[in-house]
Amino acid sequence: MPHKVTGVIAAAKGAAVELKDIVVPDPGPGEALVRVKACGVCHTDLHYREGAINDDFPFFLGHEASGTVEAVGEGVDNISPGDFVIIAWRSPCGGCRSCLRGRPWYCFASRNAKNPMTLADGTVLSPALGIGAFAELTLVDAGQAVKVDPKANPAAAGLIGCGIMAGLGAAINTGGVSRGDSVAVIGCGGVGNAAIAGSKLAGAHTIIAVDIDDRKLEWAREFGATHAINSTSTDPVGAIRDLTGGNGVNVAIEAVGNPSTYEQAFYARDLAGTVVLVGVPSPDMRIELPLLEVFGRGGTLKSSWYGDCLPSRDFPMYIDLYLQDRLDLDRFVSETIPLDGVEEAFHKMERGEVLRSVVVF
Ligand SMILES: NC(=O)c1ccc[n+]([C@@H]2O[C@H](COP(=O)([O-])OP(=O)(O)OC[C@H]3O[C@@H](n4cnc5c(N)ncnc54)[C@H](O)[C@@H]3O)[C@@H](O)[C@H]2O)c1
Ligand SMILES: [Zn+2]
Ligand SMILES: [Zn+2]
Repeated sequence: MPHKVTGVIAAAKGAAVELKDIVVPDPGPGEALVRVKACGVCHTDLHYREGAINDDFPFFLGHEASGTVEAVGEGVDNISPGDFVIIAWRSPCGGCRSCLRGRPWYCFASRNAKNPMTLADGTVLSPALGIGAFAELTLVDAGQAVKVDPKANPAAAGLIGCGIMAGLGAAINTGGVSRGDSVAVIGCGGVGNAAIAGSKLAGAHTIIAVDIDDRKLEWAREFGATHAINSTSTDPVGAIRDLTGGNGVNVAIEAVGNPSTYEQAFYARDLAGTVVLVGVPSPDMRIELPLLEVFGRGGTLKSSWYGDCLPSRDFPMYIDLYLQDRLDLDRFVSETIPLDGVEEAFHKMERGEVLRSVVVF
């Protein structure tokens, strides 16, 4: 029997989000119905509601969630009702050309629930990143529901489902940060600070945080930044070079999604270094770089989709590190809010007041 719950909907480009009745079907074959316990507000939700991702309105927002499995459909054997799970937006298919090359973290045919979630009048919703978790129940592909240790605080655990995993993975998986490296992270929101925490976990020697907001830079120091630069008053490229013997960093991570900060990352890295773009640009953005600089600096320019993570491998591991007090996920939870607080949480995010506001049920 379908379930009627209240969900957060972005109905039109730029319009404030609304609470609406939505209908969540029971799980079909290969699907799981999850009772959401917590769901973080990510900048990507705001990108959706601003029409910066695509025009498939209405969107059902929320995609950084943890919860308990309520029911599973036919053929599901990775999870059972009652399991505590983090919802992933990547569920590798096992059969696409990337999975077949042994690279499931890039999967090009990642699976989502096939049964649609709808408004009460039958309008089919586009769930953000194939999830839609600002509601008490959501329907996902069973592979999106990744079982982790239930001792974790649900509000902190859910953040591993998107932004924090994206930042940790941008440093560790995509950037390949390792012991002794120098790293710069430009943009220290939830994603950037997770990249800082990931760089520290991986043993980086120098971790330089760059932001336009001093509060974010203070938090960045708490996550492990060894230096902090406010780029409204200091040229970040010059400062990063000064801090690295005039050379630049081994790995420069862009976590804003903006051409000017991408350029900073490009010029702030050492010869043969790596640039990682984890911030999501909007469709109108362009960059222009001297091709000779692209060639002459050598190294690697990479994008990081979801931190190149393999959820079934990485989520339980990071939750264990959290439970061992080696990764402070609770520090990313700036506040917990009710379901009707999402629009205000966007404004707090824009004003730089929070790393993550988390809806708890
Ligand atoms: N690649 C992925 O898989 C993935 C996953 C999640 C989020 N994202 C993207 O990562 C980006 C960051 O997300 P978030 O949730 O951390 O957002 P956020 O709003 O919490 O953080 C953005 C940070 O960038 C800073 N900033 C803005 N303009 C700046 C500038 N010119 N120079 C330096 N810093 C600047 C802000 O002060 C803020 O601290 C977004 O574009 C989001 O869509 C990507
Ligand atoms: Zn695949
Ligand atoms: Zn996100």
